[in-house]
Amino acid sequence: MVAAGSKCRTCRGPAIIDLPRHNANFCAEHFLELCRRQVAKAIDKFEMLTPDDRILVAVSGGKDSLAVWDLLIELGYQADGLYIGLGIGEYSDVSGEYAKAFAAERALHLITIDLRDEYGFDIPTAAKATRRVPCSACGTSKRHLFDKAALEGGYTALVTGHNLDDEAAVLFGNTLRWDVEYLARQLPVLPARDGFPKKVKPLIRLTEREMAAWCIVRGIDYLVDECPMALGNKHLAYKAALNAIEQESPGSKASFYLNFLDNMAPLLAGAGASGVEGLHPCPSCGAPTTGDLCAFCRVAEKSRAHEPVPVELVLSKGRGRR
Ligand code: AMP
Ligand code: FES
Ligand code: ZN
Ligand code: ZN
Repeated sequence: MVAAGSKCRTCRGPAIIDLPRHNANFCAEHFLELCRRQVAKAIDKFEMLTPDDRILVAVSGGKDSLAVWDLLIELGYQADGLYIGLGIGEYSDVSGEYAKAFAAERALHLITIDLRDEYGFDIPTAAKATRRVPCSACGTSKRHLFDKAALEGGYTALVTGHNLDDEAAVLFGNTLRWDVEYLARQLPVLPARDGFPKKVKPLIRLTEREMAAWCIVRGIDYLVDECPMALGNKHLAYKAALNAIEQESPGSKASFYLNFLDNMAPLLAGAGASGVEGLHPCPSCGAPTTGDLCAFCRVAEKSRAHEPVPVELVLSKGRGRR
């Protein structure tokens, strides 16, 4: 991770990581300090959280969401976790184990929801039943269950582990299409509405590589594998393209996204559809919707009517558009 003999920028001790975008190397202690500082800076600048917030962290068992939970606790926030079992074969079984082990070791409270047990379907079946890519039914289900768990638990903020690489890749995609509505909504804090909590992304100033390093230094075990159903989607191709640019010109990725937030997002304010016109409670679950049934209940209804589909059957066809 770092050339032999490299020294920490802060203490001149032996470095464990090089961060070309900061043009510096860091020892373990000062690397952790940098991460805490970056998260505190993001929270402060975008007024993401207050000490009074009741925080629910959506944890997948991967590095980012476990790291953000760990970081928030380190920074003195009180935060519970939420894990959703999506029924994506072994991937889901193992990811759940990592999330549960993390919470148990630190005596943190983890809410778990199993899509199959509680709603009678899983993501591979939903992908087949809706004839869309798996990430579509998966995103709809996660958003719905995040909102519901937060509302029922009285939480005021829902935190996800989206990092700088994730947000820069989404921005890249939205920019390639000049999708003004999506661009206008691509902010790291979405305000509370209709009784649902605000949505917050405290890791926007930290990269995937930094979050992997955070977990290693802190001794956090996490699931390294990516979701098998996401393989080959455009989001991963955008990440690879940005990494190639970053390699040539360190700091490009951060300035692409963070300068968008500073310089461009304010100009787009108001361009995103507010999405509040014509909302009424879903007759089946009560969530706000503009349709007959909410998007989640539509997916659930179709999926329950479909015979169960094993994850392997979806994999070969799950590659393509997100
Ligand atoms: P993804 O949509 O897989 O890129 O994940 C984005 C964020 O959503 C993660 O950083 C987590 O905060 C959250 N998340 C993803 N999968 C789950 C899950 N199964 N249960 C709870 N939260 C999740
Ligand atoms: Fe949702 Fe992979 S985690 S499709
Ligand atoms: Zn140091
Ligand atoms: Zn509904």
